[in-house]
Amino acid sequence: MDQLHKKTQHITKLILKASKAAREETRGDGGYASSGGAVKWPVECTVGPGLEGAIACESKVGYVNGVKGALIYRGYDVFDLCAYSTFEEVSYLLLYGKLPTPSQFEIFKKKLAQHRNVSDTLRLLMSFPVENMNPMAALRMGAHFLRREFSTIDQDDHKPDSGDFIGSDEDSIAMETVPKGSKRAIYEFKRKKQRERERDDGTYNPATGYGPCYSLIAGTSCLAAAIKRVREGHLPIEPRMDLSHAANLLYMMTGKEPSPEEERIMDVALILHADHGMNASTFASMVVASTLSDMYFSVGAGIAALNGPLHGGANEQVVKMLEEIGKKERVKAWFDEAMKEKKKIMGFGHRVYKAYDPRARILLPLAEFFGGKNDEIAHMFEIATLLEKQVVGKLGKEKKIFPNVDFYSGMLYQSLGIPAEMFTSIFAVSRVSGWTARVMEYLENNRIFRPRAIYTGTFDEKYKPLRNRK
Ligand code: ACO
Repeated sequence: MDQLHKKTQHITKLILKASKAAREETRGDGGYASSGGAVKWPVECTVGPGLEGAIACESKVGYVNGVKGALIYRGYDVFDLCAYSTFEEVSYLLLYGKLPTPSQFEIFKKKLAQHRNVSDTLRLLMSFPVENMNPMAALRMGAHFLRREFSTIDQDDHKPDSGDFIGSDEDSIAMETVPKGSKRAIYEFKRKKQRERERDDGTYNPATGYGPCYSLIAGTSCLAAAIKRVREGHLPIEPRMDLSHAANLLYMMTGKEPSPEEERIMDVALILHADHGMNASTFASMVVASTLSDMYFSVGAGIAALNGPLHGGANEQVVKMLEEIGKKERVKAWFDEAMKEKKKIMGFGHRVYKAYDPRARILLPLAEFFGGKNDEIAHMFEIATLLEKQVVGKLGKEKKIFPNVDFYSGMLYQSLGIPAEMFTSIFAVSRVSGWTARVMEYLENNRIFRPRAIYTGTFDEKYKPLRNRK
């Protein structure tokens, strides 16, 4: 028996059943495509709007097969990782490329837990009206403030000397300073050799290399939990170092130690959202990193990109949509009306998947399982499955539109006591491990991203003074 998940074997069974069905259904549907070795640049490809088809880099972090409906992290099928692994182990795998040995794993978990202490960052964040802010805006700001906590930049020894203040005396408030910090801020990514040494001997400098990865993976989850609490009019809760990443996240959000089932569901959701190829937010964070900015700015860019309703914001919209439908009897009429108005149905369709999203395959039975324990979720699940039938029936064959990861995740989060406005932040908390892993990998052979646009404008316009323009 799997010792790690011995209290939640029934959930492991649900995952294995879903993955067996998925594998049988997609057997023979297109093979895996790998370059099989060094890529010879430049490569030829056909590029469409939204950079569709463009190849931006080589990567060993993860692979999405949109025809087969498969998702691989570092060679491991995400179905197996959900069944047997944990979010901490998956984060290690994504960052370092291989599964940890028992001692490596203990060290890694301890380091992550140490980085749960974000009290300085929280104090700073709470000086803003977090309760009135979009949670993703607060999370993005918090991610930037984490930089202060773990980086030497901005800390006391790098603050300007008193002599640098302009017009300062003992009683005055310093108003202007010589910007010493900026001299250092742009070089936070360590050189390749130093990063390799840190990776190999497990040591790291808190300001550079892998340090910010740990700080952001652990820190954003504590910040998201605190943001949720403050929005509900409560004080943030101190982290617990003895809990797993998933359990601590739920504990800090709800103030209750989660049951093994709740912890496992959160853990599986975190694993499923950890990485997904060159999606918009991953690309955004890599673009920022490629300028040799720093990991905190890179993750901040990822959070910003994830916020949009076409990306991470969709699961919140799904719950709103299901609430708007309200009754199972209304599903067909609502869907017909949506089609007439050419509306996009939230939680369906994907740029890459032209098959059932493997993440949705796992989330569906978990949502059903939780629905059995909660009437509200059961009601939502019923509407969702009816809507899925309508959408797939009409658009599945013709346009290859199937449920994506966002369709069933919201329901699960709601059953864990997470309100809809926090869903995207929870997605970000998980995706930080993919963003940081891909940034670290790209930096090994960094080249600044700089695509081109095809100019379709005019030439030879003659400037007219304002008064002559009608
Ligand atoms: N509902 C109805 N029709 C759809 C949907 C949908 N959800 N998604 C795509 N289509 C249709 C489009 O109308 C279009 O039809 P047309 O060719 O007749 O004009 C065709 O399918 C292609 O759609 P595009 O928008 O061009 O596909 P693209 O690859 O650019 O977009 C996207 C993918 C953004 C995910 C899109 O499917 C969508 O908006 N889905 C709803 C939002 C959503 O669920 N986002 C979460 C994505 S997963 C994630 O980011 C974690």
